[in-house]
Amino acid sequence: MTRRLKDCSNVSDLRALAKRRLPGPIFHYIDGAADDEVTYRRNTAAFDDCDLVPNILAGVDNIDMSVTVMGQKLDLPIFCSPTALQRLFHHDGERAVASAAEKYGTMFGVSSLSTVSLAEIAALTASPKMFQFYFYKDRGLNASMVERAKAANFDVLALTVDTITGGNRERDLKTGFTSPPRLTLDSLFSFAMHPEWAFNYLFGPKFELAELKDYLPEGSKDAISIGEYFSTLLDQTMDWRDAEALRSDWGGQFCLKGVMSVADAKKAVDIGATAIMVSNHGGRQLDGSRTPFDQIAEIADAVGDKIDVILDGGIRRGTHVLKALAAGAKACSGGRLYLYALAAAGQPGVEKALGNLRDEIERDMRLMGVTKISQLNREMLRYRMHAGYK
Ligand code: LAC
Repeated sequence: MTRRLKDCSNVSDLRALAKRRLPGPIFHYIDGAADDEVTYRRNTAAFDDCDLVPNILAGVDNIDMSVTVMGQKLDLPIFCSPTALQRLFHHDGERAVASAAEKYGTMFGVSSLSTVSLAEIAALTASPKMFQFYFYKDRGLNASMVERAKAANFDVLALTVDTITGGNRERDLKTGFTSPPRLTLDSLFSFAMHPEWAFNYLFGPKFELAELKDYLPEGSKDAISIGEYFSTLLDQTMDWRDAEALRSDWGGQFCLKGVMSVADAKKAVDIGATAIMVSNHGGRQLDGSRTPFDQIAEIADAVGDKIDVILDGGIRRGTHVLKALAAGAKACSGGRLYLYALAAAGQPGVEKALGNLRDEIERDMRLMGVTKISQLNREMLRYRMHAGYK
């Protein structure tokens, strides 16, 4: 196993490095998913059920891999999905990811459970920024979150719609993972085994949920599991009318994150969303649910001319990005693919992860005989047939 960042050629190498650096409960929070983790594994495996058919002699000197989604021009066809609690993984947290995304000219999604404030991130980077929104029971909190995202000039609001209750994340139950980490004998032992992480966590700036601390002191300081957070603080009555009202309060680019069916994608168009992220939350919510790649073609066929369709989840390779785009996605996004890198090495780690992907996408476009993302199309894909699977 490689121990140096510069030798990490892929996501799997970065994952191995993250595993060495992080206390077990924190690594497993990132790495784990719901129930038997079938959907999590299948999110990536689905790409292997489809093959690329390259074109030859295409003159592939100048590669342009830029895309425009949600009104944002991105230099890469992949962006960083919003993910929670980043300063737990590396002391620079969201600052490191924002700066790395800016360096690669792509978008950075900031979670409602961010550990750096929206205002600070806005001051740090001029790149396109998405704010991920959870819909709380406390309507005052919802309104103030929208105001803070507007004040910080975020470009896109993404409402997460697949966390109406907590997924059954059995690794977290076994390790006792909470936010902030609960100091038990086991966790102290795990900290002691990872002294560099523990030193930075214990002696660095205090861990906090920057956007929640003044509104939900109990949710910010008390150790709670992510399942409890979803199930107790979020509004389980949230429906299409609430989503439409939020879109209208926001008034800008509005994305629903976690759409998986054609019927819901059409409703997203009806309420005026400008984008959807086809996502099962990295397999962390409903295990046994279908994968983004398995759904992308039918969703793109139904609404791709009216709304930006993003494939979120399972991407580990440049070829996965090309398959998703050829099937009809406008762009891709991912969480773990940069979180392992953040945990492994902070900003240089995330830069390495994005750089590896950029190099792969560029090489793979040349090998496919395309110079622009818009040249990728369904003709370049062949799906393998499985019993009961199209
Ligand atoms: C998770 C949430 C917080 O998947 O997005 O853990």
